[in-house]
Amino acid sequence: MSSPESFQGVAAVLAGSTRSSISSLFSLTGRVALVTGGGRGIGLEIALAFAEAGAVVYCLDKPTEPGKDWLTVQKHVGQLPAPEGGKDSKGPSLSYLHGDVTDQKAMWKIVDDIVAKENRIDVCFANAGILQEYNCLEYPAEEFQKVMNVNVNGVLFTAQAVGRHMERLGIPGSIIMTASMSGTITNPRRSWVAYNTSKSAVLQMARSMACELAPKGIRVNALSPGYILTNMTRDFLDSNPELWTDWKGQNPSGRIGRPDELRGAALWLASDASTFCTGSDIRVDGGQTAW
Ligand SMILES: NC(=O)c1ccc[n+]([C@@H]2O[C@H](COP(=O)([O-])OP(=O)(O)OC[C@H]3O[C@@H](n4cnc5c(N)ncnc54)[C@H](O)[C@@H]3O)[C@@H](O)[C@H]2O)c1
Repeated sequence: MSSPESFQGVAAVLAGSTRSSISSLFSLTGRVALVTGGGRGIGLEIALAFAEAGAVVYCLDKPTEPGKDWLTVQKHVGQLPAPEGGKDSKGPSLSYLHGDVTDQKAMWKIVDDIVAKENRIDVCFANAGILQEYNCLEYPAEEFQKVMNVNVNGVLFTAQAVGRHMERLGIPGSIIMTASMSGTITNPRRSWVAYNTSKSAVLQMARSMACELAPKGIRVNALSPGYILTNMTRDFLDSNPELWTDWKGQNPSGRIGRPDELRGAALWLASDASTFCTGSDIRVDGGQTAW
Protein backbone atom coordinates (compact mmCIF):
# COMPACT_ATOMS: atom_id res chain seq x y z
CA MET A 1 0.00 0.00 0.00
CA SER A 2 1.42 3.42 -0.93
CA SER A 3 2.21 5.99 1.76
CA PRO A 4 0.16 9.24 1.79
CA GLU A 5 3.24 11.17 0.63
CA SER A 6 3.47 9.11 -2.57
CA PHE A 7 -0.28 8.92 -3.17
CA GLN A 8 -1.22 9.98 -6.68
CA GLY A 9 -4.91 9.09 -6.88
CA VAL A 10 -6.77 5.89 -7.41
CA ALA A 11 -6.10 5.60 -11.17
CA ALA A 12 -2.34 5.70 -10.62
CA VAL A 13 -2.58 3.18 -7.80
CA LEU A 14 -4.67 0.84 -9.96
CA ALA A 15 -2.01 0.98 -12.66
CA GLY A 16 0.62 -0.16 -10.14
CA SER A 17 0.80 -3.48 -8.35
CA THR A 18 0.69 -2.32 -4.70
CA ARG A 19 -3.07 -2.08 -4.25
CA SER A 20 -4.59 -4.95 -2.18
CA SER A 21 -7.75 -6.57 -3.48
CA ILE A 22 -10.81 -6.11 -1.29
CA SER A 23 -10.85 -9.81 -0.36
CA SER A 24 -7.18 -9.77 0.69
CA LEU A 25 -7.82 -6.60 2.70
CA PHE A 26 -10.31 -8.47 4.89
CA SER A 27 -8.38 -11.75 4.95
CA LEU A 28 -6.92 -13.07 8.21
CA THR A 29 -5.06 -15.95 6.56
CA GLY A 30 -1.78 -16.56 8.38
CA ARG A 31 -2.93 -14.52 11.39
CA VAL A 32 -3.42 -15.75 14.95
CA ALA A 33 -6.26 -14.45 17.12
CA LEU A 34 -7.32 -14.70 20.77
CA VAL A 35 -11.01 -14.28 21.66
CA THR A 36 -11.96 -14.11 25.34
CA GLY A 37 -15.47 -15.13 26.32
CA GLY A 38 -15.11 -17.18 23.14
CA GLY A 39 -17.03 -20.18 24.45
CA ARG A 40 -20.43 -18.81 23.47
CA GLY A 41 -22.44 -15.73 22.49
CA ILE A 42 -20.79 -12.78 20.78
CA GLY A 43 -17.29 -14.18 21.39
CA LEU A 44 -18.02 -17.47 19.64
CA GLU A 45 -19.71 -15.69 16.73
CA ILE A 46 -16.68 -13.44 16.22
CA ALA A 47 -14.26 -16.36 16.66
CA LEU A 48 -16.11 -18.10 13.84
CA ALA A 49 -15.92 -14.98 11.66
CA PHE A 50 -12.16 -14.71 12.23
CA ALA A 51 -11.70 -18.41 11.37
CA GLU A 52 -13.86 -18.03 8.24
CA ALA A 53 -11.53 -15.19 7.27
CA GLY A 54 -8.61 -17.64 7.57
CA ALA A 55 -7.25 -17.15 11.10
CA VAL A 56 -5.93 -19.59 13.66
CA VAL A 57 -8.28 -18.75 16.54
CA TYR A 58 -7.96 -19.45 20.26
CA CYS A 59 -11.17 -19.11 22.28
CA LEU A 60 -10.64 -18.56 26.00
CA ASP A 61 -13.47 -19.00 28.47
CA LYS A 62 -14.18 -19.92 32.10
CA PRO A 63 -15.71 -23.41 31.81
CA THR A 64 -13.05 -26.13 31.88
CA GLU A 65 -14.56 -27.78 28.80
CA PRO A 66 -16.25 -26.17 25.79
CA GLY A 67 -20.01 -26.60 25.35
CA LYS A 68 -21.99 -28.26 22.55
CA ASP A 69 -22.35 -25.07 20.48
CA TRP A 70 -18.63 -24.43 20.57
CA LEU A 71 -17.88 -28.01 19.43
CA THR A 72 -20.34 -27.63 16.53
CA VAL A 73 -18.59 -24.44 15.44
CA GLN A 74 -15.19 -26.12 15.75
CA LYS A 75 -16.39 -28.94 13.47
CA HIS A 76 -17.58 -26.38 10.90
CA VAL A 77 -14.21 -24.60 11.00
CA GLY A 78 -12.45 -27.94 10.52
CA GLN A 79 -14.32 -28.32 7.23
CA LEU A 80 -13.37 -24.89 5.85
CA PRO A 81 -11.18 -24.98 2.74
CA ALA A 82 -7.39 -24.79 3.21
CA PRO A 83 -5.96 -21.34 2.48
CA GLU A 84 -4.27 -20.52 -0.81
CA GLY A 85 -0.74 -21.84 -0.74
CA GLY A 86 -1.77 -25.47 -0.33
CA LYS A 87 -2.56 -27.70 2.60
CA ASP A 88 0.80 -26.97 4.26
CA SER A 89 -0.31 -23.39 4.91
CA LYS A 90 -1.55 -22.80 8.43
CA GLY A 91 -5.20 -22.30 9.37
CA PRO A 92 -8.00 -21.79 9.75
CA SER A 93 -8.60 -23.52 13.07
CA LEU A 94 -10.47 -23.12 16.36
CA SER A 95 -9.01 -24.18 19.73
CA TYR A 96 -10.47 -23.91 23.21
CA LEU A 97 -8.54 -22.72 26.27
CA HIS A 98 -9.83 -22.67 29.82
CA GLY A 99 -8.90 -19.44 31.61
CA ASP A 100 -10.04 -16.56 33.77
CA VAL A 101 -9.41 -13.05 32.44
CA THR A 102 -9.19 -11.64 35.97
CA ASP A 103 -5.93 -13.54 36.61
CA GLN A 104 -3.22 -11.31 35.11
CA LYS A 105 -0.32 -13.73 35.50
CA ALA A 106 -2.32 -16.65 34.11
CA MET A 107 -3.47 -14.58 31.12
CA TRP A 108 0.09 -13.54 30.31
CA LYS A 109 1.22 -17.19 30.56
CA ILE A 110 -1.62 -18.44 28.33
CA VAL A 111 -0.66 -15.98 25.59
CA ASP A 112 3.08 -16.76 26.11
CA ASP A 113 2.17 -20.38 25.34
CA ILE A 114 0.12 -19.47 22.24
CA VAL A 115 3.00 -17.39 20.88
CA ALA A 116 5.54 -20.12 21.70
CA LYS A 117 3.47 -22.45 19.53
CA GLU A 118 2.38 -20.11 16.72
CA ASN A 119 5.34 -17.68 16.71
CA ARG A 120 2.93 -14.75 16.47
CA ILE A 121 -0.29 -13.14 17.67
CA ASP A 122 -2.09 -10.62 15.47
CA VAL A 123 -5.59 -10.09 16.79
CA CYS A 124 -7.07 -9.79 20.27
CA PHE A 125 -10.82 -9.66 20.87
CA ALA A 126 -11.07 -8.83 24.60
CA ASN A 127 -14.72 -9.67 25.00
CA ALA A 128 -15.38 -11.59 28.24
CA GLY A 129 -17.87 -9.69 30.36
CA ILE A 130 -20.61 -10.07 32.95
CA LEU A 131 -23.82 -8.20 33.65
CA GLN A 132 -25.78 -7.98 36.89
CA GLU A 133 -28.47 -5.80 38.40
CA TYR A 134 -28.53 -4.08 41.79
CA ASN A 135 -30.13 -0.85 42.94
CA CYS A 136 -27.37 1.79 42.76
CA LEU A 137 -27.86 2.86 46.37
CA GLU A 138 -27.58 -0.70 47.67
CA TYR A 139 -24.97 -2.18 45.31
CA PRO A 140 -22.84 -4.50 47.50
CA ALA A 141 -19.14 -3.64 47.35
CA GLU A 142 -18.03 -7.17 46.49
CA GLU A 143 -20.55 -7.40 43.62
CA PHE A 144 -19.51 -4.02 42.20
CA GLN A 145 -15.90 -5.18 42.43
CA LYS A 146 -16.75 -8.44 40.66
CA VAL A 147 -18.13 -6.59 37.62
CA MET A 148 -15.21 -4.18 37.49
CA ASN A 149 -12.77 -7.05 37.86
CA VAL A 150 -14.05 -8.99 34.84
CA ASN A 151 -15.20 -6.12 32.62
CA VAL A 152 -12.33 -3.69 33.23
CA ASN A 153 -9.33 -5.48 34.78
CA GLY A 154 -9.94 -8.56 32.63
CA VAL A 155 -9.96 -6.52 29.43
CA LEU A 156 -6.71 -4.81 30.45
CA PHE A 157 -5.00 -8.10 31.36
CA THR A 158 -6.08 -9.64 28.04
CA ALA A 159 -4.88 -6.66 26.01
CA GLN A 160 -1.57 -6.63 27.92
CA ALA A 161 -1.03 -10.36 27.43
CA VAL A 162 -1.35 -9.96 23.66
CA GLY A 163 0.07 -6.45 23.23
CA ARG A 164 3.36 -7.37 24.95
CA HIS A 165 4.05 -9.91 22.22
CA MET A 166 2.87 -7.65 19.40
CA GLU A 167 5.37 -5.04 20.62
CA ARG A 168 8.21 -7.56 21.09
CA LEU A 169 7.68 -9.15 17.69
CA GLY A 170 6.99 -5.87 15.85
CA ILE A 171 3.55 -7.07 14.76
CA PRO A 172 1.12 -4.32 13.68
CA GLY A 173 -1.69 -6.04 15.55
CA SER A 174 -5.28 -5.15 16.28
CA ILE A 175 -6.75 -5.18 19.78
CA ILE A 176 -10.54 -4.93 19.94
CA MET A 177 -12.33 -4.44 23.26
CA THR A 178 -16.02 -5.25 23.56
CA ALA A 179 -17.52 -2.22 25.28
CA SER A 180 -21.25 -1.48 24.90
CA MET A 181 -23.65 1.29 24.02
CA SER A 182 -24.07 1.26 27.83
CA GLY A 183 -20.64 2.89 28.08
CA THR A 184 -22.10 5.97 26.41
CA ILE A 185 -25.78 5.95 27.40
CA THR A 186 -27.67 4.31 30.24
CA ASN A 187 -30.28 1.63 29.69
CA PRO A 188 -33.73 2.98 30.50
CA ARG A 189 -35.40 1.45 33.56
CA ARG A 190 -32.39 -0.80 34.45
CA SER A 191 -30.17 -0.74 37.56
CA TRP A 192 -26.88 -1.46 35.85
CA VAL A 193 -24.58 1.11 37.46
CA ALA A 194 -21.59 -1.28 37.73
CA TYR A 195 -21.98 -2.57 34.17
CA ASN A 196 -22.43 0.88 32.66
CA THR A 197 -19.49 2.26 34.63
CA SER A 198 -17.31 -0.66 33.56
CA LYS A 199 -18.15 -0.17 29.88
CA SER A 200 -17.31 3.56 30.06
CA ALA A 201 -13.97 2.50 31.49
CA VAL A 202 -13.42 0.13 28.55
CA LEU A 203 -14.04 2.98 26.09
CA GLN A 204 -11.46 5.14 27.84
CA MET A 205 -9.05 2.20 28.11
CA ALA A 206 -9.26 1.67 24.34
CA ARG A 207 -8.53 5.36 23.68
CA SER A 208 -5.65 5.47 26.17
CA MET A 209 -3.99 2.29 24.94
CA ALA A 210 -4.54 3.32 21.32
CA CYS A 211 -2.60 6.55 21.84
CA GLU A 212 0.18 4.83 23.77
CA LEU A 213 0.57 1.98 21.28
CA ALA A 214 0.05 3.80 17.95
CA PRO A 215 3.78 4.62 17.61
CA LYS A 216 4.43 0.87 17.80
CA GLY A 217 1.92 0.21 15.03
CA ILE A 218 -0.55 -1.53 17.35
CA ARG A 219 -4.19 -0.46 17.00
CA VAL A 220 -6.75 -0.51 19.81
CA ASN A 221 -10.48 0.06 19.25
CA ALA A 222 -13.74 -0.56 21.06
CA LEU A 223 -16.77 -2.32 19.60
CA SER A 224 -20.01 -1.24 21.24
CA PRO A 225 -23.05 -3.44 20.65
CA GLY A 226 -26.59 -2.43 21.47
CA TYR A 227 -29.10 -5.06 22.65
CA ILE A 228 -28.00 -8.40 21.18
CA LEU A 229 -29.80 -11.66 21.90
CA THR A 230 -27.36 -13.95 23.77
CA ASN A 231 -27.46 -15.98 27.00
CA MET A 232 -26.53 -12.78 28.86
CA THR A 233 -29.56 -10.81 27.69
CA ARG A 234 -31.84 -13.86 27.48
CA ASP A 235 -31.57 -14.25 31.28
CA PHE A 236 -33.09 -10.78 31.71
CA LEU A 237 -35.69 -11.25 29.00
CA ASP A 238 -36.81 -14.62 30.39
CA SER A 239 -37.29 -13.25 33.89
CA ASN A 240 -38.95 -10.03 32.65
CA PRO A 241 -40.89 -10.86 29.44
CA GLU A 242 -42.17 -7.26 29.16
CA LEU A 243 -38.58 -6.29 28.34
CA TRP A 244 -38.93 -7.73 24.83
CA THR A 245 -41.25 -4.87 23.86
CA ASP A 246 -39.36 -2.35 25.98
CA TRP A 247 -35.95 -3.09 24.44
CA LYS A 248 -37.22 -3.33 20.86
CA GLY A 249 -38.86 0.08 21.28
CA GLN A 250 -35.62 1.69 22.45
CA ASN A 251 -33.98 1.84 19.04
CA PRO A 252 -35.20 3.17 15.69
CA SER A 253 -34.71 -0.27 14.08
CA GLY A 254 -37.42 -1.60 16.40
CA ARG A 255 -35.70 -4.88 17.19
CA ILE A 256 -32.99 -6.67 19.17
CA GLY A 257 -29.81 -7.50 17.23
CA ARG A 258 -28.25 -10.87 16.48
CA PRO A 259 -24.62 -11.75 17.36
CA ASP A 260 -23.83 -12.38 13.69
CA GLU A 261 -24.67 -8.74 12.95
CA LEU A 262 -21.42 -7.80 14.73
CA ARG A 263 -19.24 -9.89 12.41
CA GLY A 264 -18.64 -7.24 9.77
CA ALA A 265 -17.49 -4.58 12.21
CA ALA A 266 -15.30 -7.01 14.18
CA LEU A 267 -13.63 -8.39 11.05
CA TRP A 268 -13.11 -4.89 9.69
CA LEU A 269 -11.40 -3.87 12.94
CA ALA A 270 -9.29 -7.04 13.06
CA SER A 271 -8.11 -6.86 9.46
CA ASP A 272 -6.01 -4.59 7.25
CA ALA A 273 -9.27 -3.01 6.07
CA SER A 274 -9.08 -0.68 9.09
CA THR A 275 -5.35 0.20 9.25
CA PHE A 276 -6.04 3.92 9.85
CA CYS A 277 -8.62 3.28 12.60
CA THR A 278 -7.45 3.39 16.19
CA GLY A 279 -8.85 4.84 19.42
CA SER A 280 -12.37 4.60 17.99
CA ASP A 281 -15.63 3.29 19.34
CA ILE A 282 -17.62 1.44 16.67
CA ARG A 283 -21.29 1.26 17.69
CA VAL A 284 -23.54 -1.44 16.31
CA ASP A 285 -26.78 -0.72 18.12
CA GLY A 286 -29.65 -0.48 15.66
CA GLY A 287 -29.40 3.30 16.00
CA GLN A 288 -30.16 3.38 19.74
CA THR A 289 -27.49 5.96 20.60
CA ALA A 290 -28.56 8.11 17.64
CA TRP A 291 -31.98 8.62 19.20
N1 LIG B 1 -25.55 -9.25 24.56
C1 LIG B 1 -25.64 -7.92 24.53
O1 LIG B 1 -26.71 -7.33 24.33
C2 LIG B 1 -24.39 -7.09 24.74
C3 LIG B 1 -24.49 -5.72 24.47
C4 LIG B 1 -23.36 -4.93 24.65
C5 LIG B 1 -22.18 -5.49 25.07
N2 LIG B 1 -22.12 -6.82 25.32
C6 LIG B 1 -20.83 -7.37 25.76
O2 LIG B 1 -20.43 -8.39 24.88
C7 LIG B 1 -19.59 -9.30 25.59
C8 LIG B 1 -20.10 -10.73 25.36
O3 LIG B 1 -21.40 -10.82 25.88
P1 LIG B 1 -22.47 -11.92 25.45
O4 LIG B 1 -23.74 -11.23 25.26
O5 LIG B 1 -21.91 -12.79 24.39
O6 LIG B 1 -22.60 -12.72 26.83
P2 LIG B 1 -22.37 -14.24 27.24
O7 LIG B 1 -22.68 -14.28 28.68
O8 LIG B 1 -23.10 -15.13 26.31
O9 LIG B 1 -20.80 -14.45 26.99
C9 LIG B 1 -19.84 -13.93 27.85
C10 LIG B 1 -18.76 -14.98 27.99
O10 LIG B 1 -17.73 -14.44 28.84
C11 LIG B 1 -17.28 -15.49 29.68
N3 LIG B 1 -16.67 -14.97 30.90
C12 LIG B 1 -17.27 -14.32 31.93
N4 LIG B 1 -16.38 -14.06 32.90
C13 LIG B 1 -15.18 -14.56 32.48
C14 LIG B 1 -13.89 -14.60 33.05
N5 LIG B 1 -13.64 -14.11 34.27
N6 LIG B 1 -12.89 -15.18 32.34
C15 LIG B 1 -13.14 -15.71 31.11
N7 LIG B 1 -14.35 -15.70 30.52
C16 LIG B 1 -15.35 -15.13 31.20
C17 LIG B 1 -18.55 -16.27 30.01
O11 LIG B 1 -18.23 -17.57 30.48
C18 LIG B 1 -19.27 -16.25 28.67
O12 LIG B 1 -18.95 -17.38 27.89
C19 LIG B 1 -19.61 -8.85 27.04
O13 LIG B 1 -18.47 -8.07 27.32
C20 LIG B 1 -20.86 -8.01 27.12
O14 LIG B 1 -20.80 -7.05 28.15
C21 LIG B 1 -23.20 -7.64 25.15
